[in-house]
Amino acid sequence: MQSKQSIHGSWANRWIFILAATGSAVGLGNIWKFPYITGENGGGAFVLVYLFCILLVGIPIMMGEILVGRRARQSPINAVRETAAESGLNQNWSLIGWLGVLAGYIIFSFYSVVAGWVLHYIAGMGTGQFVDISSDLAGERFGDLLASPEQMLMWHTLFVLMVVGVVAGGVNKGLERATKIMMPALFALLLVLLGYSVNTGSFAEGWSFLFSFNLEALTWDAVLVALGHAFFTLSIGMGAIMAYGSYMGKKDSIGVTVLTIGVLDTLVALVAGLAIFPVVFANQMDPGAGPGLMFITLPVAFGQMPGGQVFGFLFFLLVGVAAWTSAISLLEPATAWVVERFGLKRLPAALLLGSIIWLMGIASLLSFNHWDDIKILSMNIFDFLDFITANIMLPLSGLMIAIYSGWALNKRITQDELALNSPFFYSAWSVVIRFVAPVAVMIIFVVNLYEKLA
Ligand code: PHE
Ligand code: NA
Repeated sequence: MQSKQSIHGSWANRWIFILAATGSAVGLGNIWKFPYITGENGGGAFVLVYLFCILLVGIPIMMGEILVGRRARQSPINAVRETAAESGLNQNWSLIGWLGVLAGYIIFSFYSVVAGWVLHYIAGMGTGQFVDISSDLAGERFGDLLASPEQMLMWHTLFVLMVVGVVAGGVNKGLERATKIMMPALFALLLVLLGYSVNTGSFAEGWSFLFSFNLEALTWDAVLVALGHAFFTLSIGMGAIMAYGSYMGKKDSIGVTVLTIGVLDTLVALVAGLAIFPVVFANQMDPGAGPGLMFITLPVAFGQMPGGQVFGFLFFLLVGVAAWTSAISLLEPATAWVVERFGLKRLPAALLLGSIIWLMGIASLLSFNHWDDIKILSMNIFDFLDFITANIMLPLSGLMIAIYSGWALNKRITQDELALNSPFFYSAWSVVIRFVAPVAVMIIFVVNLYEKLA
C-alpha cells in the first residue's frame, strides 16, 4: 500500500523538513522577544525556567502536534477532525484546530508590524542613518516611526506581500525554495554576529547576565511569561508545526526531528542573547529596556562601534530573514485549509488570507499613535494581542493538544506515528504528555489567576 500523501506536496527530505520547521521556530521570538523579556525578568533565573518549559512542556507537545499532522496529511482543522474520526471521537475536537488558526491570525497581525519595523531598520542601517547616534536621538527616531501610521503601514504591507509571495508558491516551489536559501544565510549571519560580540570586551558580562541563576528574583508572572514564550518560540499551539508535519516523510523519526528543532531554536535564542547583551553592556546601557531594546539600544551601540554600521545592517538583515520564514508558517495552515475546503488555488487563497491579516495589522499599528488611548486590561491593542496569544491562547491550545494526543487519541495511532524504537521512550513520552506537561500548564495558569485576583 502506498502511504498517504498531502495534496499540497511534501518535503524533499528530512533535512528540508527540519530546516523549514526551524525556520518557523526561529523568528522575532528568538532575537527580539527573548532578549528583552529576559532583560525585563532579571536574566539567569528566567532563562532556567524557560529551558525547563522547552524540555518538559514544549518538546513533548510539539511531538503531539506533528504526529497529528502527519497522520492525517491535511491542514490542522481537518487533521484534528480526521484523526478524531479514526479514533472514534467527537468531531468537536477540531475546535483545537480552529483555536490554533485564530491564534495564528492574531499573532501574524502584530508580528508583521514588528517585522515592518525591522525592514525600516534594514533600510536605515544600510543608508548610514545611525552613525554616532545618541541614545536620545535613537529613542526619538523609534518614537517617530511609531508615531507615523503611514510609514508603518508601508512596511507592514511590504512584509505581508513578501510572505504571501512565498506561500502562494506552494510547499515545493514556495516554502521549500525559501527555506533552502534563507536558513543557511540565517545561520551564517548569526555566527558572524557572535564573533563580533565576542570581541566587544563585554562578552563575559553578557554571559553571566544570561547564565547566573538567581532564583530569588523569580516571580510567578515571570514563570507565566517563560511558559508562554516556550510555546511562542517553538511555534506550537497554533497549527504551524502541525501543517509542516503534514508534509513530512513517513519514515522520518518525529522524536529526533523535534529534538533537533528544539535544540536549534534554543541555541539561536541563547546566541542572540550573547550577541546582544555584550553590545548593550559595552555601551553601559540598560538590559531591561523592554521591546525597544533591539530598536533603540542596539542601533546606538552599533553606531558607536568600529564596523558597527556593517554589523548593524547584517544584524537587522538576520532578524528580517528570521521573521520572514516564521511568518510563512503562520500563513500556511489557513491557506492549506482554504485550498482544501473551497478548492481555491494557492495564489488567491494566500492573497485572500493575507488581506485579512493586513487589515487586522492596522489595528496594531494604530495602537501606537491614533488609538494609543484605547486600553484593554491597561494594555494597548498591540500589547494586549501579544499577551492573549502568547500567554493565554497558545498555552491553552497546547494544553488541549497534550490532552488530545496523550489521552484521547487511539494509542495505536500515537505508537505508530512516533515509532519510538524502545518501549521506554514511548512510556516516557506518555507520562510527560499526559501528566507533566498538562499539570505544569495548569498550575502556572491557576497560580497566576490567583495572584491577579488576590
Ligand atoms: N516561533 C516564532 C518566533 O519565535 C513565532 C511563531 C509562532 C511562528 C507561532 C509561527 C507560529 O518568532
Ligand atoms: Na522561536
